[in-house]
Amino acid sequence: MMAVRGSTLALAVSTVCLAGAVLAQQPATNVWSGVYTKEQAARGREAYAMQCAACHGETLAGIDVAPALVGGPFLNTWGGTSAGDLHERIQQTMPLNAPGSLGGRTVADIEAYIFEANGMPAGELALPPNAAWMQNMRITTQKPEG
Ligand code: HEC
Repeated sequence: MMAVRGSTLALAVSTVCLAGAVLAQQPATNVWSGVYTKEQAARGREAYAMQCAACHGETLAGIDVAPALVGGPFLNTWGGTSAGDLHERIQQTMPLNAPGSLGGRTVADIEAYIFEANGMPAGELALPPNAAWMQNMRITTQKPEG
C-alpha cells in the first residue's frame, strides 16, 4: 500500500518537474523590453479599428462599459499578469459580440498595438501567435529599473 502511494507521488512530482523544466526553457521577459515589431503593431492597428474600436474607442480610451485599453487603470488591471494572459482573455472573450472569432495571429497583432499605445517600445521579434508561448512575458505597470 505504501509502495503504491509512494510511486504515485513520485510520478506526480516528476510530472510537475517536467512541466517546470519546459516552462523554464523560455526565459522570463518583460513587455517593456521590445517584444513586438512596428509592422506587427501597424497590422494590429487596422484589426483593432475593425474589431474593437466600436466599443473601446478609436483611441483605446474606452466607451461606457467597455474599459480603456490604455493608461493607468488598464496597466493596473493587467500588471502582474502576462502577455499570454492578455492574449487568452482577448482570444476567448473578445470581440464581445463574436468571442473566439479571431485567430491567434490577429490577436497577437492587436496586442502589439495595445502595447505600443501604452508606450512599450517595439523590438526585433514579433509577439508569437499563441498565448502559451508568452506565459513568461510579464506585464508590469512601468519599465523595470535596470
Ligand atoms: C461589442 C463591444 C465590444 C467589442 C467589439 C470588443 N469589446 Fe472588449 N470589452 C467590452 C466590454 C463591455 C468589456 C467589459 C466587460 C467584459 O469584460 O466582458 C470588455 C473588456 C475587454 C478587455 C478587458 C479589459 C480590462 O481591463 O479588464 C479587453 C482586454 C478587451 N475587452 C479587449 C478587446 C479587444 C482587443 C477587442 C477587439 C478584438 C474587443 N475588446 C472588442 C466590449 C467590447
